[in-house]
Parts: sequence; C-alpha cells; structure tokens
Amino acid sequence: MPWHRKDLLDLQSLSAEEILTVLDTAREFKAVGQRPIKKVPPLLGKTVVNLFVEPSTRTRISFELAAKRLSADVINFTAEASSLRKGETLKDTARNLEALRVDFIILRHSAAGAAHFLARVLAAHVINAGDGAHEHPTQGLLDLFTIREKLGRIAGLKVTILGDILYSRVARSNIWGLQKLGAQVTLCGPPTLVPRAFESLGCRVVHDLEEGIREADVINLLRIQHERQRRNAFPGLGEYTSLFGLTRQRLTELRPGALIMHPGPINRGVEVDSDVADGEWSVILEQVTNGLAVRMAVLYLLNGARAVAAAPA
Ligand code: CP
Repeated sequence: MPWHRKDLLDLQSLSAEEILTVLDTAREFKAVGQRPIKKVPPLLGKTVVNLFVEPSTRTRISFELAAKRLSADVINFTAEASSLRKGETLKDTARNLEALRVDFIILRHSAAGAAHFLARVLAAHVINAGDGAHEHPTQGLLDLFTIREKLGRIAGLKVTILGDILYSRVARSNIWGLQKLGAQVTLCGPPTLVPRAFESLGCRVVHDLEEGIREADVINLLRIQHERQRRNAFPGLGEYTSLFGLTRQRLTELRPGALIMHPGPINRGVEVDSDVADGEWSVILEQVTNGLAVRMAVLYLLNGARAVAAAPA
C-alpha cells in the first residue's frame, strides 16, 4: 500500500493501517540488513539532511545509516556550527536547505510543533525526530516493531510505560501507536510525572510500581528528562530509584517472558539496574537494530508517496 503522506510528524494522526504498512515494510528492510551487501537503490539521487538542534546518538546515526543504505546522499547539520548560532531562524535555515534542493529534512528540536511548522512551509519531506515533549514517531514505530516481532502481536497486550511520562515524547508516540493497534496501556510513576490527566487518553494511571508491572507483557522504561523539567518532580534520584527503579529483585514480580524495553539513553542505577538492562529480559539493543529498519521503511514510503502523487492520472 503506498503512503499518501508528504511527512511523518506524529503517530496521533496515523491510521492503524498506515502504522502496519510501516511495520511490514520494515520487516523487509530488516532482512536486507542481514545480507552481505546491505545497500539498495530506492533513494539514489535523493538528498537527506539530518537537522538536529538537540543532542542525539541513536536517532541521528540510525537515520544517517538508513538513508545511506537506501543510497541517498546525507548531510549532517550541526546546530552548534551553524548560522542558528548567529540568530538565523529555523524557518530561514530550512528554506536555505531547500534552496539547495534537498529532498528530506529530519528535524529534532526542543520545541513541540517544530516539525509540523517546517512541514507547512517546505515542499521537502519532513520527518519528526523528536519535538520537545510532544512526539517521537519513529521511536514509537520501532517500539511497536520490536513488540510485534518478539511477542507475535500487539492487540490485547498489556504494556506499562514506567517513569517520566509528563515530559516524554516517546511516551506519547507509544500511547497513540499501541492504542491504535489494540494494546492496553498503563502509565506508572510518581504523581508529579504521571498525572491523572493521562486517563483522558484512554490509559490506566497507577502510582505504585508493583501494581504497574505485575500484569504487564511489556515494560517500557523511560529516563528522567531533566532537560525538560521546569521544577523538581521528586525529592531526589535516590528516592525515585527506591520507589520506581527496575531492579533484579523486582523482576520476580513480572510475568514470565515479559519484555524490558528502553528507548535510551539509559541512566544506569536510576530507572534501571545494569544487570536488568543487560539481562535476558531486555530487548534494548534489539530496539536499536530495529530502529534502522523502521527508519529505512519510513524514508522509502515517504519517497514513494511523492512518486505516486506525481504520476499521471
Ligand atoms: N531514543 C532516542 O531518541 O535516543 P537519542 O536521543 O540518542 O536519539
């Protein structure tokens, strides 16, 4: 099924069918990644700009590698060494990139809505690589891909997202994606980071760790996002860890076969113990591997959307 979209900005506006198209396409690209020659030609002659105005390891490198595996040319834009530092606006920066005939702009920005704004003013495809505390759609998609691959389905599963929900774009993309595919979502953490207002999105909200993890098929851990918090949400990291850190001892509370996920970066010894993050229940590095396939699928489908739109009637 071709995608009739110019941009990927969020999972809130995607249908279940569109999400499943990405996941199915990513499965094909994961197989490509296991061949001796991992490069394929769909984006030959296209240019992809990684416009990251906030730090990133996984997402930026994964998008770069995804674009290169699809034979695109890739430009990594470094905000610190750019004219953004001289007062140029994001819009002017992006329009200058477009004047160079780039085809894709992948944007990470601290402001919620930044990718939506660029998508409105640019003809190039825009992919949201994380906008403030709003959404991180490719992280949501790679989490869905990993759950489906490991457990065989998403519908009917109980997924607990544990930690700093309030400031998390990963949580929001997961909530939309999981619910569209039929999972039940529980949000767990301290009341200051998991307010009851999230119940209006159809989630269960619990403030007790044991209650939050006991029935879960999947536990998706989130770090405390100090860079977005405007005030202290709890007295100290030690208290947070004692109440909500996932320790090996607490694994005994889990269902056998439950998955431990984390989008990274991990703060070892805070939201998760090292031996849990590196243990047999953890799929954290498989998430990273799957992220490459998912991002190849997103670039591929968005590129196809343009070809479909340009085809004669
Ligand atoms: N998960 C994630 O977005 O990681 P980075 O911030 O390293 O890209």
